[in-house]
Amino acid sequence: MRVIRSVKGMQQLARRWSRASSRIGFVPTMGYLHPGHLSLVRRARRLVGASGKVVVSIYVNPTQFGPQEDFSRYPRDLKRDSRMCRAAGVDVLFFPPDEQMYLRQSAQAHSTYIVEEGVSQGMEGASRPTHFRGVATVVAKLFNIVQPEFAVFGAKDYQQAAVIQRMVRDLNFPVRVVVAPTHREKDGLAMSSRNKYLEGPLREQATVLWRAIQEAKRVIAPGTPVPASRIRSAVIKLVRREPDAQLDYVEFFDPDSLAPMKQVRAGAHMALAVFIGKTRLIDNARLT
Ligand code: PAJ
Repeated sequence: MRVIRSVKGMQQLARRWSRASSRIGFVPTMGYLHPGHLSLVRRARRLVGASGKVVVSIYVNPTQFGPQEDFSRYPRDLKRDSRMCRAAGVDVLFFPPDEQMYLRQSAQAHSTYIVEEGVSQGMEGASRPTHFRGVATVVAKLFNIVQPEFAVFGAKDYQQAAVIQRMVRDLNFPVRVVVAPTHREKDGLAMSSRNKYLEGPLREQATVLWRAIQEAKRVIAPGTPVPASRIRSAVIKLVRREPDAQLDYVEFFDPDSLAPMKQVRAGAHMALAVFIGKTRLIDNARLT
C-alpha cells in the first residue's frame, strides 16, 4: 500500500492508472476508521476486481464543520488507520495536507463551492446550514483528484449519499456512486468515528437511536398508514427517558426524493439526530 500526500501525485497516478485501463474504486473518509468504513473498502474491491485499484482518502474537511462543531477535536490516528487500510488490501491511502486542499492566502483564497439545492434541504441541512456545501465541494475536489469509476458511500449518512448522487447526476461527473448498508454494533448502535466520544453511561444511552427506529417499525407494523406526528411523539417519549439525550430532529420521508411524509407506511424512510451529552449522533433506516 502506498501513502500519497500530494494532490498532484495522486492525480498523476490516477491518470496513469486510467491510461492502463485499471478500474479505480474510491472510499472518501475523514479517518479514525472503523469496521463500517472497511465494509465500504470491501465493496470497492468487489466493484473493481483484483486487478483494479482501491483508494481510501483521509481528510478531515474543515468546510463541512460549523463554527461550534467538533472540527479541532475530531479523532485522528493515521498510524492505526493506515494499518487497517493495509490489512484491508487498499492500494493507495490518500492523505492530503490541508494547505493543498484549500488555498488560504487572502487574495488567492479558495472561492468556489458546490451547493446542492434539493435533497440537502431539511434534516442535516437544516441543523447544519453549511454542512452539505462543504461535503459536496470536498467530494467534487476528491473526485477530480482520484478520478474514480466507482465511489462508495455509506447509508449511515443517507442524506449525504443523496446529495452526492444529485451532484454527480446534475454536474455529469463520470463516477458511479454506490451506497452500502450501515454497519452496526451488536446492540444496534451505528458505527461512527464520533462513538469514541461516548464515555461511561453515554454509550448505553446512545442505543436510543436504534431503539427509536425499532419503535417506529413497531408502530407502523399493522399496515395502515400512521400520521408522522404519532410516531414522532413515541420517539420523543423514548428519547426523554435518557437523562443525557436530546432529540435534534426525527423525520419520515420518501427514500428517493427525501420529501417529508405526513402519513407513514412501510417503505418510508426515517432519520433522526440526537445529542448524547455533547455528541451529536445520526441514524436512519427504511421502515419495513
Ligand atoms: P466519514 O464520517 O469518515 O465517513 C466516510 C464514509 O463512511 C461515508 O460514506 C459514511 O457514510 C460511511 N460510514 C460511516 N459510518 C458507517 C457505518 N456505520 N456503516 C457504513 N458506512 C459508514 O462521511 C464523511 O466521512 C465525510 O462527510 C466525507 C464523505 C468523507 C466528506 O468529507
